[in-house]
Amino acid sequence: MTDLSLEGHLSLAIWRDGAIVDPSRATVSVWDHGLLYGDGVFEGLRLRAGRLYRHRQHLVRLRRSARAIALDVPYDDETLLRGMAATARANGLEDAHVRIILTRGIGLPGVDPQRCPRATTLILAYPFPPLLGSEPIRLITSSVVRKSPRSVPARVKSLSYLDNVLAKVQANAAGAGDAIMLDAGGLVAEATSTNVFAVHGERLMTPPTIAALAGITRATILELAAGAGLTPCVEPLEPGDLYTADEVFLTGSGAGIVPVASIDGRDLPAAPGTHTRALEAAYRATWTDPACSVALTDIQEA
Ligand SMILES: Cc1ncc(COP(=O)(O)O)c(C=O)c1O
Repeated sequence: MTDLSLEGHLSLAIWRDGAIVDPSRATVSVWDHGLLYGDGVFEGLRLRAGRLYRHRQHLVRLRRSARAIALDVPYDDETLLRGMAATARANGLEDAHVRIILTRGIGLPGVDPQRCPRATTLILAYPFPPLLGSEPIRLITSSVVRKSPRSVPARVKSLSYLDNVLAKVQANAAGAGDAIMLDAGGLVAEATSTNVFAVHGERLMTPPTIAALAGITRATILELAAGAGLTPCVEPLEPGDLYTADEVFLTGSGAGIVPVASIDGRDLPAAPGTHTRALEAAYRATWTDPACSVALTDIQEA
């Protein structure tokens, strides 16, 4: 199934609370606190050529996100893994973006999570070309500050993406491909759905995950840096560290590795640069590594 239309997506089967649900019933209650308050967490991972990539890491992050918002996950990892495989199979997908969503569940209106006896668990699988396209992109720096880690910890992949959405609105208005978001202190946090890296000589710099999601692609790139002749450096980045970099790129499960052509009208010397290319090749090589992924055929049917 490679139908990228909305109608095509509306005809996909989903997994909800333990079973595959027919597309006509692939809905969420209007009383779900995920909708009413953005109360919930999610994960997004890639299925490539029939293999789920970094499934363990995504499930760990999902559980950590849930714990941070005091949400009980009603299923164990094996059930969620089987649910992901079942959703892909039900839709005949070998290449897809797979999304696990945990909402606070159905409850009376009122922000108190105690009103919701049980989380709603959803798994979606759908065709998803690289989120930001496959060309180098132009970025702006958004004036929308990434949400404070003192309100919502950046490690929590929550259903509340409104700051990211507003930064994207700004990027759209400026005709840019995406936006860099800064933290409250003016340091670089991340882009709207990706982490950011800057190459300075042989240093591969990326901000700490204080106001940025602990990206699973980010972690992979940091692991691969040494093999590409780079020293990984996790340290605070000023916007100027991006303007003066040799290369800048973004990373994410949805977007892949995205070379950055310019930031706020400052052209980068190369996009993609040689280091970005080398890291992308090394990243692609991990896709088929059995240590990094599991084949759908090795996941038991539910
Ligand atoms: C805000 C944000 N930052 C970074 C990322 C990249 O994380 P990952 O590499 O785990 O997909 C994502 C995507 O999930 C994201 O939504």
